[in-house]
Amino acid sequence: MSQAQIISGKTLAATVVETVKQATARLIAQTGIIPGIAVVIVGEDPASQVYVRSKGKRAEECGFLSRTHRLDAGTSEADLLTLVESLNADAAIHGILVQLPLPQHISEEKIVESILPEKDVDGFHPINVGLLSSGNRSRAMIPCTPAGSLMLAKQALGENLSGLNAVVVGRSNIVGKPMAALLLQESCTVTIAHSRTREIEALCRNADLLVAAVGRPQMINAGWIKPGATIIDVGINRVDAPEKGEGKTRLVGDVDFDAALGVAGAITPVPGGVGVMTIAMLMANTAIAAARAAGRADLEPDLSL
Ligand code: GUN
Repeated sequence: MSQAQIISGKTLAATVVETVKQATARLIAQTGIIPGIAVVIVGEDPASQVYVRSKGKRAEECGFLSRTHRLDAGTSEADLLTLVESLNADAAIHGILVQLPLPQHISEEKIVESILPEKDVDGFHPINVGLLSSGNRSRAMIPCTPAGSLMLAKQALGENLSGLNAVVVGRSNIVGKPMAALLLQESCTVTIAHSRTREIEALCRNADLLVAAVGRPQMINAGWIKPGATIIDVGINRVDAPEKGEGKTRLVGDVDFDAALGVAGAITPVPGGVGVMTIAMLMANTAIAAARAAGRADLEPDLSL
């Protein structure tokens, strides 16, 4: 049997970053404005620390001003709100990202809503959620993981996704719901499946495009996949890997990759798939926010998303 095409997030992310670099150079040359991003992290969650470090590195590579605010786990909600307000008011900062999850005593909703929608490079603010769901993509900030996932799907399927059966497994605000909104805009027939969905396996087996965003290691196996389907695996799960030695771990997706290879038409790997694209799309959103702030939407990076 033929093997599925492996869709490389690394290659596509490098292209996106290159496009962002060029757009940034043009923005700086024509307006003097340097895109600025502030990343805020509260506490010591090791996975979050890794993400935040790579965001900072990428931002510098793109030619941005990049600031990271590391706050201790005991920071009060009021202090975090004060920081966000100062970043809202800071003309050098065009993009603000507060890394989630936040400690229990801080309301994520309150913090997300305190970020100016035009600086909300995560696209989590209710204004951006509304703009996306009403189809106003030119004003919305699109959440990075779904935006990257859509670009990966188009790598395998081409620009035109019209009429495809798309199933999104997972209904989170960060991935599942905005992913469904994006695919609907692409004229897919979209179903959101979740933990209460009946006959989920048969439902997924009907998908031409299957997006897995549940956070359960290797939940989706060959029996869930329509032969030839395109699979976008958003899951990043750390599991024990005794075969690598005692105490060792490895990253796996929500899809059983090896099993899927024999059935799917195309699939994203973990790592090296959606994860790297998420960071690239964050850079794109920051450059977009800076161009819009300058009143120069014509200088946004053109990703033909
Ligand atoms: N935590 C996991 N994914 C994300 C993301 O895309 N943005 C933020 N802010 N936090 C996250």
